[in-house]
Amino acid sequence: MKLWKKKSHQEILDRVKSALGQNRSFYEEPILGMPCSYLDSKIFPGNSPILANAPFLQTLVNNPNHIGCHTVAKSEAMFEGTQELERELLDIIACDIFKAEHGNYDGYVATGGTESNIQALWIYREYYKDQGLRNEEIAVLCSEDTHYSISKGCNLLCLHQFKIQVNPETRKMAYEDISGLLRNLKESRVKGVVFVANMMTTMFGSVDDIDVIASALQGSGLDFKIHVDSAYGGFYYPFVDVVTHLDFSNPLISSITVDAHKMVQAPYGTGIFLIRKGYMKYTLNQNASYVKGEDYTLVGSRSGANAVAVWMILAAHGSHGWSEKVLILKKRTDWICQKLKESKINFFREKKSNIVTIPAKHINPKLEKKYYLVPDSHSKPSWYKIIVMEHVSVGFLESLVEDLGLGLELAEHF
Ligand SMILES: Cc1ncc(COP(=O)(O)O)c(C=O)c1O
Repeated sequence: MKLWKKKSHQEILDRVKSALGQNRSFYEEPILGMPCSYLDSKIFPGNSPILANAPFLQTLVNNPNHIGCHTVAKSEAMFEGTQELERELLDIIACDIFKAEHGNYDGYVATGGTESNIQALWIYREYYKDQGLRNEEIAVLCSEDTHYSISKGCNLLCLHQFKIQVNPETRKMAYEDISGLLRNLKESRVKGVVFVANMMTTMFGSVDDIDVIASALQGSGLDFKIHVDSAYGGFYYPFVDVVTHLDFSNPLISSITVDAHKMVQAPYGTGIFLIRKGYMKYTLNQNASYVKGEDYTLVGSRSGANAVAVWMILAAHGSHGWSEKVLILKKRTDWICQKLKESKINFFREKKSNIVTIPAKHINPKLEKKYYLVPDSHSKPSWYKIIVMEHVSVGFLESLVEDLGLGLELAEHF
């Protein structure tokens, strides 16, 4: 990885300080025309000593507004220091992790995976509209395991969503099911398809087979765009040594969602949206004429501190440190999977993933409560998942394995 280098605490401090120094200061300058300011000083005093060594808090208190998309257009000059840091962050993620060519993508730090996914659907709807298609002629396809943000987006954008069933053993879609659906859609009135492919689904951590999806799409004769939802998996799966072709090195993929507020443990409000150059223009809103550079994003005003937080976390680890962190999570997941096998408890795990999904028949309400296990459906659970995050130590996993193996009898106080 060429861009993602580890930095010392002092280097991080200096870089953020320099970025803030290039922003205009509400404390020192006559900024008269903006509907924004530093954070309320009764609660967040700008001269508090705790800010001295805390660049993220300094940025929060300074409160830069990153409205707009800074890879496409020149944005509000008042915050150009931290906007530049956001571009550095996007470069690391787009080029080093997702193999985009430098300068050949656009993106921004969105509120989360939901917004990034909806931004993608919105851009493609506008793209197809530009080609003369009506909403009824556009179909959004994805597996039944896809996150609900896609149905939220389709509802908001008046698009039709078609879910494709997965094999219950592998959680993969079959070529025949995809191509059969595409054939039916073509015979009705559909002319353009948006396919959402997953790099680690919410419940199963499953990864869609892009080669199967691509050959069905290419064989259909329909125009198509592929968006990758790696909101959960984007900071994990590219580091586990499995080839997925779910990145910009695959010419068929146009856009990617990846969240920093999941695996990166960044503050909420750090979804990242990435798309090849040439597409953001479809959501340009020229009514935003008072915003320098106008606006292309769903969110509008957004905190520059979020971009700084993610940049700082990535810089503190460096790419090698990140690979090591992922390797540790993978090893812990290997450990629990081995124990489950020994206890003859069946489970689903995508190759090398850190999500383990266990059939509900193995989990009683006491176990669910004790370990905060999350079901696929609270009203009618079929599965429960374990996600091996940073805080999920082998000690906790061992305790779960013991409880599972003990006929699920737990101490009374739970
Ligand atoms: C695969 C996937 N996509 C999208 C989202 C939505 O992300 P957010 O909650 O940040 O909007 C999630 C959240 O869990 C997810 O797992």
